[in-house]
Amino acid sequence: MKTKIAGLIFLSFAATIFAANINTLAIIPLPQKIALHDGTFNLAAGTRVYVDSASRATGKYLTERLRPSTGYPLKTSTKYFGSTAIPDGILLTTKNADTKLGPEGYELTVATNSIVIRAPTQAGLFYGVQTLFQLLPPEIFSTNLVSNVAWQIPCVQIEDWPRFKWRGFMLDVSRHFFSKPEVETFLDAMALHKMNVFHWHLTDDHGWRIEIKKYPKLTQVGAWRAGGGFGFDPKSTTAYGPDGRYGGFYTQDDVRDVVKYAAARHITIVPEIEMPGHATAALSAYPELGCTNGPFEPSMTAGIFYGIYDPAKEQTFVFLADVLTEVAQLFPGPYIHIGGDEVPKETWKNSADCQALMKREGLKNEEELQSWFTRRIEKIVNARGHSMIGWSEILQGGLAKNAAVMDWIGGAKEAAGAGHDVVMTPTAYCYFDFYQSTNQTAEPKAAAWGGPLTLNRMYAFEPMPTNVPPQLQSHILGAQGNLWTEQIPNLKHAEYMTFPRACALAEVTWSAKDSRDWDDFMRRLQIHVRRLDELNINYRHAAVETPEPNLLK
Ligand code: ACM
Repeated sequence: MKTKIAGLIFLSFAATIFAANINTLAIIPLPQKIALHDGTFNLAAGTRVYVDSASRATGKYLTERLRPSTGYPLKTSTKYFGSTAIPDGILLTTKNADTKLGPEGYELTVATNSIVIRAPTQAGLFYGVQTLFQLLPPEIFSTNLVSNVAWQIPCVQIEDWPRFKWRGFMLDVSRHFFSKPEVETFLDAMALHKMNVFHWHLTDDHGWRIEIKKYPKLTQVGAWRAGGGFGFDPKSTTAYGPDGRYGGFYTQDDVRDVVKYAAARHITIVPEIEMPGHATAALSAYPELGCTNGPFEPSMTAGIFYGIYDPAKEQTFVFLADVLTEVAQLFPGPYIHIGGDEVPKETWKNSADCQALMKREGLKNEEELQSWFTRRIEKIVNARGHSMIGWSEILQGGLAKNAAVMDWIGGAKEAAGAGHDVVMTPTAYCYFDFYQSTNQTAEPKAAAWGGPLTLNRMYAFEPMPTNVPPQLQSHILGAQGNLWTEQIPNLKHAEYMTFPRACALAEVTWSAKDSRDWDDFMRRLQIHVRRLDELNINYRHAAVETPEPNLLK
């Protein structure tokens, strides 16, 4: 009797310990399958990191990332191979990986004397490494040596893969110019969250940001404007040039660096070159490509949306083909985004040449003229080995053949029904420039036309549209958050708008739909923001500290 009671007590005690341990795991996005076991692996100065030869770069990324905070001179070694036993230490390998994990999945096994990350691809291994970081104390992300923390990793068995293959983030570098290191900061933050598509909004009315060798005035003239706009305190922004003009641009060498930096983090870049509208900055450099003679001025205050290319001039297509040639060479692909949103059709309506073109081509209205324009551009993009993607409006007047659609104001169902791939970025759930709270007066300036997009609302976002039938759902590639920067004068404000909402979006796009649990997400987020603190990433503290209503219930 006595021993039986003791046994029962022991069992319930064990269960409590188990539950407490589960509570300490705080991985975002939540993995598909986790089993927690007793014990820990203790990372030490002598821990060996073994890799197969194909996985050297991922191994190096791991050891270099662990070095600043631990101070351990960890090195990778390929010596283990040839032996069948799992060595003491950390092993990264693609050998004997389960291909069912898919192109981004991985398996992570932590035992007291070994850690094995096994994945069919380097992307999967990389995500396994990201999860491993999140099994360590948050201080692992410190850029300074940390001496008072035990680098213990709980014993776990994790199998993981993403729900969606497009887990994106868009940064508008036209309205506010972000420097190359600032862009790389975002790429690192994306990697932490297993996000894999960086949509780089490089051109718009308010600044042209990418060097095009054949058209130097695009950046000599189009990359600069007289002032920040929207009444910014000039001191609040870093984007003033030495002569007091606001702006900046990336040289082609900068772009190559960023592409490489992203690729090392398994992030694909989608460059966006806006057309036929949102082209004021381009037209300020080459006004002859517009329907009127301008002048075109990339100002934040005066008449936005008036810059539109003239499709009745062959010169316009020569210019755009040249630009797209250079863009296609810089970005390995697969997509080039051609914008297509918010085209000010009045200008085409008032142009005798555009009206004559429409008559000649049998186009009934300006929507069909945009469609005609888009089809020509698509041929140019395809001929350069890329696929075209554009905003919802490219659907109007008939969609070009191989185009993918970024749904910000609808169209997912029609596009998928016609066989096109779709990325979901509905304003109500995916616009990081929207206010994060109903109490706007307590917030820094944000987009004035929408929201609030609270953290809870973001977490409640379901990327699969309810009206897309099962047989078409494979066309929904995933979702992305968009940070427009009309109201954002610096990196810290940009981070404030992005985090922690991007943490929620990462989970929405990666984790299983039925694992969504707001209370557990908030529990994990308390720990996750300590990682952001270590990384010096700004975020909206109130979203973590002040509970929001649970819309999931
Ligand atoms: C957009 O927000 N105009 C795509």
